[in-house]
This record gives sequence, C-alpha cells and structure tokens, in this order.
Amino acid sequence: MSGRDPVAELTGLLRKARRPVALTGAGVSAESGVPTFRGPDGLWRRHRPEDLATPEAFARDPALVWEWYNWRRERIAPARPNPAHRWLAAYERANPGFLLITQNVDGLHRLAGSRRLVEVHGNLWVLRCTRCGREGEDRRVPLPVPPRCPECGGLLRPGVVWFGEPLPAEALTRSTEAVQEADLLLVIGTSAVVQPVASFPLLARGAVVVEINPAATPLTPSLDLSVRSAAGALFRRIPLPGPPPAGSGSPSPSHPGGTP
Ligand code: APR
Repeated sequence: MSGRDPVAELTGLLRKARRPVALTGAGVSAESGVPTFRGPDGLWRRHRPEDLATPEAFARDPALVWEWYNWRRERIAPARPNPAHRWLAAYERANPGFLLITQNVDGLHRLAGSRRLVEVHGNLWVLRCTRCGREGEDRRVPLPVPPRCPECGGLLRPGVVWFGEPLPAEALTRSTEAVQEADLLLVIGTSAVVQPVASFPLLARGAVVVEINPAATPLTPSLDLSVRSAAGALFRRIPLPGPPPAGSGSPSPSHPGGTP
C-alpha cells in the first residue's frame, strides 16, 4: 500500500469496492460502553470463560450462567450505536454489495440499522428453549432466573454460541462465501484469536484486507493495511458514499450526517 494517509487510502477503497465485507468484534462496541473480552478491563480478566460461556457450565449451574448474562444484558441495555455502527449501517444502504459479519451478540449493529448482517455468535437478546427449541427475542432486564419457556416450561438458554459449540451452519456458509468473493475486507475491533472466525480473513481471495484496531493482532502481519485507530473515532473521519445518483454507477461522497 502507498504511504498515503490511511483515512484517504481507506476512503478510496470503500468508494471503489463492489463486494465489500466487514467483520467486527467487541472492539466496535467499546466506544458504546460495552466491555470487550480480552482488553485490560475485559470480561475474561474477571471471569473464566469455561465457568460461564460453555454448555458444560450451563448444565452444571444454569442459575450462575443466567446471573452473568443478566448482568451483561443490564450493562448493554443502555448502550447506543456509536459512529462506527452508524457508518456501517449507512454504508449498507449506499452499497448493495456490502455484507456485515459480526461476532458481537450485543445487537448494536441491528439497532444502528444494519440488516444485511450475519450474527455468527448469535444474539444475547434472543432466548432458546433447551426442550422444544422455540426461539424468541426477550428484552426484559433482568430476566427471571432461570427463565422458562412460555410454551413448554423448559429451561431457556441465551441464543448465543458458546465455546465448544459450532457456529450455525447457514451463518458459517454465508460468511465464508462472502469473504471468498469480497474485493474489500474490513476487520474491525477483533483480537482474531477465537476460531473459526479468526481464520475468516485468511479465506479472502484477492480482497484488499484492512484491519481497524488500536492494537496489533495475529492477523496484522498478513494484512494489506492496518489502521491503528479506535473504530468510532476513525469512521467519524470517513465520508460516506451517498446512494448512487439515478442512472449513474458510482456513489457520490457525502458525510453520514447526524452528530458524530
Ligand atoms: N475500536 C476498535 N477496536 C478496538 C477498540 C475500539 N474502540 N477498543 C478495543 N479494540 C480492539 C482490541 O484491541 C481487541 O483487539 O478490539 C479487540 C477486542 O478483542 P476481544 O475482546 O478478544 O473481542 P473479540 O475479538 O470480539 O472476541 C471474539 O471471543 O469471547 C469470545 O464470543 C466471544 O465473540 C467473542 C469472541
């Protein structure tokens, strides 16, 4: 990549891309006040994943796991999308070829307006019955512990993917195919240590791969461009291509509007 200002470089790449894909992690929600997992004040600094985010932990002590998810839901409930979430949602409206893949379960991309979205680790506002399989969104904060299925009375679990569980097959297929076909891949706010998502960027065939993260990750050496920045702060500086003018093929630059 040339030695140009990374914002100018990234703005040009975003404007030209016809099949862009963004892959986000907890870092994209950090500026919304949602704790990450592995940062200095990350969730895994104070809790052991195997005690709270595995099927075995839930089978051993569902009440303990639900107390933790109730705490996370209460912490996330007041969070609002930040400029990074809003930018990506607006980019989806301006670029019909764009797909957003997120590891986050906080629901902030959807709240910002993203709809062409794959939540590969599920969504913590969704509950799934361990007996009849019924799934539904329930935003009560806090939930009764443990919550019960309104249909069959079975024990409800969070609609998320725990360590040791496979990603939903449709989400995995859609994500890996999109990355392979992409001409631009943005890797935003992930430490790139949890498989299989950490390896998604390595599936890119010909895409320019750009990392947006204040810190380096294991992916950094293999990327085309690494922007050492917080995502929200960076996206405040990137003009958004407006919807393509009628009858022309290229989007025109404009700012996302609204206060940053
Ligand atoms: N903007 C961009 N990136 C940021 C910001 C920010 N404002 N703040 C922190 N980061 C970066 C950190 O440098 C780190 O690389 O975000 C990354 C967060 O990493 P993790 O906390 O490991 O989160 P994530 O990569 O999403 O974890 C993946 O692990 O625990 C499981 O299922 C959980 O989906 C999660 C998965």
